Amino acid sequence: MERTFVMIKPDGVQRGLVGTIIARLEARGLKLVAARFEVLTEKRFTEQYREHLEKPFFLSLKQFIMGGPVFLMVLEGRDVVPLVRKMVGATNPQEAAPGTIRGDFGIDTGRNVIHASDSAESAQREIAIHFTAKELCSYTRVDESVIYEY
Ligand code: RTP
Ligand code: MG
Repeated sequence: MERTFVMIKPDGVQRGLVGTIIARLEARGLKLVAARFEVLTEKRFTEQYREHLEKPFFLSLKQFIMGGPVFLMVLEGRDVVPLVRKMVGATNPQEAAPGTIRGDFGIDTGRNVIHASDSAESAQREIAIHFTAKELCSYTRVDESVIYEY
């Protein structure tokens, strides 16, 4: 089983979409392993988005992401990293397919509701930025035997 990091951004929180988004992820069969609701510190924001440090949108991204509380999650499931990226949809919600979270709930790139890790390596790195090993709960969901064929 693989793990990924997901963050509902401040626009998703302000718009009351936290429950809707968690419901979609849970209903898909993904297992919640950790969660926290908070305003990101500058240190953890910068670590999270370090690949974009030199980009022209870095400052506006920082103001936006640190401007309000976010909902952080670790999710577990088979091939969960690409699966959640597909559920999240394209970075620009205008290009995100209907049925994806951004395609159903977003319009602007700078207000695209949710973040999800883009590779297994990013997931490992991002989980470690936001959660300690002790905060990650390993358990079996009772429906796993009917979600997975083997
Ligand atoms: P994320 O990291 O948030 O899951 O989004 P992503 O992989 O789909 O896109 P990425 O290229 O990593 O960009 C990170 C976030 O920065 C904002 N952005 N703004 N104005 C712009 O051109 C621009 N490009 C990216 C978006 O909020 C994007 O999700
Ligand atoms: Mg990204």
